[in-house]
Amino acid sequence: MLYLYIKALHIISIIAWMAGLLYLPRLFVYHARVMPGSEADLAFQTMERKLLRIIMNPAMIATFIFGIWLIMLGAIDFRHAGWLHVKIVFVLILAAMHGLMAKYRRDFALGRNIRSEKFYRIFNEIPAIIMVVIVLLAVVKPF
Ligand code: HEM
Repeated sequence: MLYLYIKALHIISIIAWMAGLLYLPRLFVYHARVMPGSEADLAFQTMERKLLRIIMNPAMIATFIFGIWLIMLGAIDFRHAGWLHVKIVFVLILAAMHGLMAKYRRDFALGRNIRSEKFYRIFNEIPAIIMVVIVLLAVVKPF
């Protein structure tokens, strides 16, 4: 029973984290079009800072805590769960992308963005693809 509650909390945290990972680069796409120092620039900076600090950072930490808690509850034979090993590699890639987004946000806040709208459009696709892979691994457990 505890296991199922922790799993539900794991999924709730993932939803909040993924919402940010999909939306923040979308904000960067539009932000890259506006003049540094303009009113729109300041509005995007506020949205990006709040999304990262209030939603994404706590949601990522909660996802990790509940995921690791699930492993520690011992219902899964960790050593023989190949799907989980591969899943963790992809989760670490998502966390690295989170770190990159935090850097891009800082660059915008300092008026130092040098990346194009097209760069952020392409960057925006990657978390979605990784999410599909992770969910397939976690639900189907193919190996
Ligand atoms: C440190 C990070 C993570 C760890 C250690 C972890 C670990 C786990 C574990 C042990 C389970 C239980 C599997 C089961 O009972 O069948 C689980 C479930 C799940 N995880 Fe994660 N996870 C992490 C991050 C993520 C992320 C980032 C996503 C999605 C993007 C994700 C998606 C899922 C899903 C959808 C389930 C439910 C599977 C099911 O009930 O069939 N996890 N996770």
